[in-house]
Amino acid sequence: MRPMRFMRELPKVELHAHLNGSVSFQTIEKLIRRKPQLNIEHSMTAIGKGQRRTLDECFQVFKVIHQLVDSEEDIFMVATDVIKEFAADGVKYLELRSTPREETTTGLTKRRYIETVIKAIQQCKRERVDIDVRFLVAIDRRNGSQVAMETVQLAEEFLLSSDGLVIGIDLSGDPTVGHGRDLLSALQKAKDSGLKLSLHLSEVPSQHDETDLLLNIPPDRIGHGTFLHPEMGGSQGLVDKVVQNNIPLELCLTSNVKGQTVQCYAEHHFKYWYQMGHPVVICTDDKGVFATDLSQEYKMAATTFGLSHEAVWKLSQQAIDYIFAPDSVKEQLKQKWRDLQPQEFK
Ligand code: IMP
Ligand code: ZN
Repeated sequence: MRPMRFMRELPKVELHAHLNGSVSFQTIEKLIRRKPQLNIEHSMTAIGKGQRRTLDECFQVFKVIHQLVDSEEDIFMVATDVIKEFAADGVKYLELRSTPREETTTGLTKRRYIETVIKAIQQCKRERVDIDVRFLVAIDRRNGSQVAMETVQLAEEFLLSSDGLVIGIDLSGDPTVGHGRDLLSALQKAKDSGLKLSLHLSEVPSQHDETDLLLNIPPDRIGHGTFLHPEMGGSQGLVDKVVQNNIPLELCLTSNVKGQTVQCYAEHHFKYWYQMGHPVVICTDDKGVFATDLSQEYKMAATTFGLSHEAVWKLSQQAIDYIFAPDSVKEQLKQKWRDLQPQEFK
């Protein structure tokens, strides 16, 4: 079977997808039509093939998208579109993450923001879209300790009231802004109340102390972890902590290459962790902004690192073990994978 067709038909698990970074060209088109007065063009919301940007420029892109997505209607449309696009790409289980925002001009509150994402998930369920979706409430590190604490409190409420849809916390945002020590108590509180934690760690160099501190919690998964290992300026001590706690890494190849934290695909730290046999999950990060999808990311990993179709199948299957939803969901997904497994891998 041709590689791209194999990757598309492969059942997949997506664990690292920021809602507003995942908005497709088509949805951006609809948003631009809703808000022509903003004079926003497509070139301002996505980084095309062969293009690269500094990390700082990437964060400017999010600001533009946030201007386009500032009401309940927008969030509902964006979330339903994103969920359906992931499903169309063969994703069977998706953990979406997003930073609740308030917008005085549209009356949007953080609580309504989360409720609207939940409504979109429920709507897709009603329409029998073939995908199980959960939500991680994101903390933007830029906003400091108090906002982090408030976000955790909101997430705790939804953990109890959302029927298993809100299951965790994400720590993200511009990694060059703020310090993890200010967020430690909020993250610890989240963990203590049963929320799962996925933290962007060592996305840029020189964050050794922050990473070391946050690894002590420990998080349930790590986003990127680009500069954890010694060859990238991290340390064996950090690697040991990750390995001893068996913390899976969410790896987003195109995001790192286009955002220029990794020089080229061949130098991506996927190789380091995969060869070690450490749990890794291929993810998109921001499929809209980086103009990719999960099938393309799997194909890129396979061609760059010489993975057979069988190895790719294993990689997608093993991702089930690292989801935040309970064991009963893992069992359902494992059954789905068994049903879809090509004869030659059985
Ligand atoms: P939102 O949370 O749904 O609005 O998605 C966009 C947000 O996700 C950005 O404003 C950042 O806070 C976060 N984000 C997206 N990609 C990255 C990344 O690569 N590193 C850190 N934060 C990110
Ligand atoms: Zn991310």
